[in-house]
Amino acid sequence: MKYFIFTFGCEANKADSERIRQKLNNLGHKETLNKKDAGLIMINACSVRQSAIDRVRAKIMEFKNKKIILAGCLLESDKKKFQNKIWQIWHPNEYFDLIPLHSSPLSAFVPITAGCDNFCAYCAVPYTRGREKSRPTGEIIREVKNLIKKEYKEIWFLGQNVNSYKSGKTNFPKLLQKINKIPDEFQIRFLSPHPKDFSDELIKTITRCEKVVRYINLPVQSGDNDVLKKMNRNYTREQYIKLVKKIRRAMPDIKISTDIIVGFPGETKKQFQNTLKLCQEIKFDKAYVSKYSPRPGTMAAKMNDNVPFKEKKRRWQILDKLINPSTSLRASPKKKKLIVVLGPTSSGKSDLAVGVARKFNGEVISADSRQVYKGMDIGSGKITKKEMRGVKHYLLDVANPKKIFTAIDFKNMAEKTIAEILTKGKIPIVCGGTGFYIHALLGGVDIPRVAPDWVLRAKLEKKSCEELFKILGKMDPIRAKNIDSQNKRRLIRAIEILRRGSGQIAQPPKFNFDILYLGIKRGDKNLKELIHKRLIKRLKQGMIAEVKKLHHQGVSWKRLDGLGLEYRFVSRYLRGLLTKENMTEQLETAIIQYSKRQMTWFKKYPSATLRASAPGIYWVKNEKEAKGLVKKFLKL
Ligand code: 5AD
Ligand code: SF4
Repeated sequence: MKYFIFTFGCEANKADSERIRQKLNNLGHKETLNKKDAGLIMINACSVRQSAIDRVRAKIMEFKNKKIILAGCLLESDKKKFQNKIWQIWHPNEYFDLIPLHSSPLSAFVPITAGCDNFCAYCAVPYTRGREKSRPTGEIIREVKNLIKKEYKEIWFLGQNVNSYKSGKTNFPKLLQKINKIPDEFQIRFLSPHPKDFSDELIKTITRCEKVVRYINLPVQSGDNDVLKKMNRNYTREQYIKLVKKIRRAMPDIKISTDIIVGFPGETKKQFQNTLKLCQEIKFDKAYVSKYSPRPGTMAAKMNDNVPFKEKKRRWQILDKLINPSTSLRASPKKKKLIVVLGPTSSGKSDLAVGVARKFNGEVISADSRQVYKGMDIGSGKITKKEMRGVKHYLLDVANPKKIFTAIDFKNMAEKTIAEILTKGKIPIVCGGTGFYIHALLGGVDIPRVAPDWVLRAKLEKKSCEELFKILGKMDPIRAKNIDSQNKRRLIRAIEILRRGSGQIAQPPKFNFDILYLGIKRGDKNLKELIHKRLIKRLKQGMIAEVKKLHHQGVSWKRLDGLGLEYRFVSRYLRGLLTKENMTEQLETAIIQYSKRQMTWFKKYPSATLRASAPGIYWVKNEKEAKGLVKKFLKL
């Protein structure tokens, strides 16, 4: 039977949907992106807030004539209510151990624990997902290795209380250390740790493991000790602040976000002020603020939900404004244009970017994980002053090769640079072969999980912006709050996505950009020749002397080994582990293999044609073709 999945709620649920897909396929069913075709409707529900359950109910009503399976976080009381309207109910444990079918080409969710033992007073999770259970370490490592082999670049460890992971002798920091040792280029992220289990060992581990992204979502929920106690959070405001200070002392560049609930039963204005003060003191990089909503069966549900909705909303607005001020980029009403030039090594990206920049008044942001380092010029194939032909380049020579520069560092600097270029009225052109950086900056060109529904679009197109905004407001008030109410295309898209229940657009994108992705296509033979020529040229230019110099300046052999192929093979030659001939030969083979890996990765992105609405890469053969596309893109 054909099935269609609706996913509500958090990352854990999205990860579950990837496993549910596998289970349904194993049962012989087939996914369809058209819900009308589906005989089977799978609803992966979330119970964290009443509004989410309301949306689940709406879906059940909408598809009451089809077979419905309900899965995910469900309270007994809701299950009972829905029971006679649906075909089956699946408990999250039923698909916990399955191999997922990932829906993003670059990021993969890996649940490492399920359930929760904390019983925070407001939270439905211990009831819907049951007691905490950790997956065996070996199984997780196998899964991650497999993902890396398939070129996934971002691994998200998920758990309701992810840092209380424990399986045999392996606790959460040990697990991170083991994963960090897997060679290859990828990042590890995790969601969400509990402050009470955030040990010194964990801080040390994040500090030392270069693959672990220096970003933590550390839910505080409230800044008032009495409220925290009533919430059963097991820490005080002072302990929380101390923990954040400790983390920041160890990693001054770390980004910290948080979850906060406003209007918890009995929360007074003064207690809310304490939360506000805590936020002013800590200066979170981001906060996910929710208005308290009672969940039947939880401890808080027995308390008097006495903060009026209007007051909850007021508190919500104050906090949201304080912590999530709209950046100039997000606030800009008109969509800005940005061009991305990508392709394998030696394909001629830099030259093309310069050509486009000169013609269309652009400036170039390099997206190359080695060209960011000072002193790594020849080996990384850095563009020379002359080759820049007067076009300004950014994000070159911004880091010391002795220190690790992460994709997050790149993202932060690039965001600032893009804003700067835009204020000059120029076009930012992101150019580079580190797809991983481009993904960190722009979120990749993910295949939209919700394919366009042309019939629905045509219907909505006839409505005015006001009408569309009203419809959206009814479906998802939070989303409506975050949308440009005069942007018809966006309104239609938001309604379309909500109609399919994907629920993944709750966060407004940081960049309000139109992006043109240009890829350079080269035949295998042509690329091999280019790689060969370029390698010979660079050896002549003094690549070996460059590596020698870096080592003299204190960059260790071990570090050089990790700085990419050229630095690895040349340093091995300098250490006497390879003859010069072997070095050249092996290096060339390795670069060719690398270029293939780069292409495999880029191929995960959908290809675009001018007619397709989905973002994708336009593969071009030469500069002329690229310029033609840019001209159309800029509507010149
Ligand atoms: N009401 C409002 N917000 C809640 N959250 C969890 N339960 C509730 C509830 N009953 C919020 C918490 C949690 C996030 C996932 O959702 O802030 O960290
Ligand atoms: Fe819910 Fe608290 Fe467990 Fe998080 S830690 S899932 S808020 S009970």
